[in-house]
Amino acid sequence: VTAPGLLSVVGIGPGGRAHRTHAADEALGAANVVIGYGPYLDQCADALAAGQRVVRGEMGDEAGRAARAVDEARAGARVALVSSGDAGVYGMATLALEAAAALPEGDRPRIEVVPGVTAALAAAALLGSPLGHDFACLTLSDVRTPWADVERRLHALAAADVALALYNPRSRGRPWQLGRARDILAGHRPGGTPVGVVTDAGRAGQRVTLTTLAELDPALAGMTSLVLVGASTSRMAGPWLVAAR
Ligand SMILES: C[S@@+](CC[C@H](N)C(=O)[O-])C[C@H]1O[C@@H](n2cnc3c(N)ncnc32)[C@H](O)[C@@H]1O
Repeated sequence: VTAPGLLSVVGIGPGGRAHRTHAADEALGAANVVIGYGPYLDQCADALAAGQRVVRGEMGDEAGRAARAVDEARAGARVALVSSGDAGVYGMATLALEAAAALPEGDRPRIEVVPGVTAALAAAALLGSPLGHDFACLTLSDVRTPWADVERRLHALAAADVALALYNPRSRGRPWQLGRARDILAGHRPGGTPVGVVTDAGRAGQRVTLTTLAELDPALAGMTSLVLVGASTSRMAGPWLVAAR
């Protein structure tokens, strides 16, 4: 027997309501309980409804939020678990699905994953169409992935000549990884390879910088930046960075 609650893991896009899907708005508005990291709840405050129970979480407690969301849905609530961008791209969906999968089948709530605009797409759109041909996403965070694995993937992807969307390029606790990634990529790609650094895409304070691999200054990036690295298909078309098709 399936429990009556519903857990919607909702990708709210990178910024404001303009980049949020109707499906996300509907899931947020229909929930009895909305759970998320505080700043992301603020980001979608306009989609929340009166009378909802809103649970603000802390950075670093993603697993706790996912477990709580599953518990609330098991108890019969309609729950929206908020994730920035797309919930399935370095987002909350895996944690929620794993928490549910750990339960006996009959105890699992119904779950849906509501897709969102991921940061790579929002950042790419601000630069032109740098992901118009093959591309790959990679996180430079070594919090959950050993750095040796990140480096191995960087070498492989750099050699594969695909454009790269680098998530989690830099934070206070991870200050050197982007410089190291740049040096690895420079071993495979020309120094003139275009690189875009987009910070806070779709949010207040949005910043877009176009530079090259040789000149990439890691200090340009922060916790809310996305770094796009071109491939041999990348070129400028007027002011726009595009990938030839
Ligand atoms: C834990 S990941 C979450 C990704 C998110 N699930 C998505 O699909 O965009 C956090 C990283 O996403 C990127 N990011 C998220 N929102 C962004 C935005 N508005 N502008 C630029 N980068 C963003 C940054 O690289 C940041 O370090």
